[in-house]
Amino acid sequence: MGVADWVRPEIGAMAGYQPGEQPAPGERVIKLNTNENPHPVPAEVLGAIREAAAAETLRRYPSPDAGAVRESAARAYGLAPDQVVVGNGSDDLLTMLLRTFVGPGAHVVAPAPTYSLYDTLTRIQGGTYREVPWGVGGSLLTRAITDADPALVFLTRPNAPFGFACDLGQVAALCRAVDAPVVLDEAYADFADDNGLGLLAEHPNLIVTRTFSKGFSLAGLRLGLGFAHPEVAEQLHKVRDSYNVDALAQAGAKAALDHLDAFRPNIEAVRQERARLTQALRQRGFGVADSQANFVFARVPDGDGAPWYRALKERGILVRHFPAEELAEGLRISVGTAEENDTLLTALDAIAEG
Ligand SMILES: Cc1ncc(COP(=O)(O)O)c(C=O)c1O
Repeated sequence: MGVADWVRPEIGAMAGYQPGEQPAPGERVIKLNTNENPHPVPAEVLGAIREAAAAETLRRYPSPDAGAVRESAARAYGLAPDQVVVGNGSDDLLTMLLRTFVGPGAHVVAPAPTYSLYDTLTRIQGGTYREVPWGVGGSLLTRAITDADPALVFLTRPNAPFGFACDLGQVAALCRAVDAPVVLDEAYADFADDNGLGLLAEHPNLIVTRTFSKGFSLAGLRLGLGFAHPEVAEQLHKVRDSYNVDALAQAGAKAALDHLDAFRPNIEAVRQERARLTQALRQRGFGVADSQANFVFARVPDGDGAPWYRALKERGILVRHFPAEELAEGLRISVGTAEENDTLLTALDAIAEG
């Protein structure tokens, strides 16, 4: 007998989620591989985190349900506090959703390609993950989704890794058509033209998740928000780890939500650089779809992304290359600062020249 015999078969059989590469602290790289925000955290938010890092706060447990954060989030987004659940990153909310709605054998359905953590979390629950294709132009194949008999549906909007945003009218129609919770993963919504929060009032089976890792430059703090019908939120709280969001993260989250305007210039800068980068890549022969997120997916001119990924890495620039067949011909590139994007473009020119 050994570990292989003791471990649950679902866990033994799975590879585990593969996060993007994180360089060692102090290593000098241009990091365009995990869609962080290249701009600094506003001073108001850093100040609140520093203030919370005091012996008396750290000695005690934090608020179990992050009450003050939920109130600030409700105010910021025009909802009620009992519609808000706070997570240790939005990944934590995805875990809560799986724990709440997916038991052994149940189906989780998502239009793909999409965020590969959904598959991992489904396997951990002993559920079955079923991908359906996106329709033409990023539309939803509602019939394919309902036919897959979901216990839970994931829609990533804007989508990863391509960056398009499916039509909100179709999201509403799917909520009506499916007898299951629909999770709208809005990790990248801060960079998009619109979002699905307005659909919550009409659709009690809709759950919207957000992260502080992208728009708010706080990936290291690990914070996410879930917005749902109060009855759904109540169930999510039951499966939450007791003190899932630490005291520093709660202080940072509250300050961020109370100072949303402080983030707008950073978000606008990313949107402007996204447009410039898209244009510059197209001029160089890359196939780039319009993106509503803080990254672009660029099909390389010769159709094989792997050598480009390696050549960029040799020059100290990290981007993401996914070996899966339908993604292997491109690179997912996070939008950096103007300077970082210029360095990237210069490097791509040098690689193209061989
Ligand atoms: C679609 C999507 N959802 C969720 C997350 C997780 O974000 P967080 O850092 O809040 O856990 C990511 C991170 O890259 C993502 O791409």
